[in-house]
Amino acid sequence: MKLGFAICGSFCNHSEILKIYEELSERYELIPILSENAARYDTRFGTAESLTERVESVAGRRAVKTIVEAEPLGPSGAMDVLVITPCTGNTLAKLAAGITDGPVTMAAKSHLRNGKPVVVALATNDGLGASAGNIAALLNRKNYYFVPFGQDDPEKKPNSLIADFSQLEAAVLSAAEGRQLQPVLC
Ligand SMILES: Cc1cc2nc3c(=O)[nH]c(=O)nc-3n(C[C@H](O)[C@H](O)[C@H](O)COP(=O)(O)O)c2cc1C
Repeated sequence: MKLGFAICGSFCNHSEILKIYEELSERYELIPILSENAARYDTRFGTAESLTERVESVAGRRAVKTIVEAEPLGPSGAMDVLVITPCTGNTLAKLAAGITDGPVTMAAKSHLRNGKPVVVALATNDGLGASAGNIAALLNRKNYYFVPFGQDDPEKKPNSLIADFSQLEAAVLSAAEGRQLQPVLC
């Protein structure tokens, strides 16, 4: 299976996601896609350069980092499934609103054109706040699937939601068969 693997600017989750990315590289052809913010910001969780180098060396190909590079992914049939992980509240809002202003949203639009599945692995502190409506919109939209998600810290961050990344591969395999992995709430 050819798996588009889009990484957004939920920087604190990059190290966990990269471990999963490396595991998946043993079983799938990976097409790394970086949001413009993931590709340009150095944070306390790592540098943009090291993120880019790591995804490119594992996949053995250049990362998709612009709208122009993302646009052909759909027409060329480059991906069977596109997973967006971690998906920020920002990217989620754009997907819900049909805004295509960066490589991740362009990859999704280009891929959805073919009626193929997009799998969203959330990580956002406002999942039960400002992002709640956007989650609901995509739960109810054709060809979108979610990695099961839940509250990560109900006491200190009552609105925060995060995907159970350990279920990412299972969610991708289900989505490839047109099914949402259940239970979606964990
Ligand atoms: C250190 C750091 C961690 C962040 N973590 C998150 C996060 O987990 N979830 C989220 O939705 N936004 C997070 N943000 C904010 C996003 O990076 C910001 O909304 C950005 O515009 C996202 O761009 P993208 O969706 O194009 O990747 C974080 C920002 C910083 C600097």
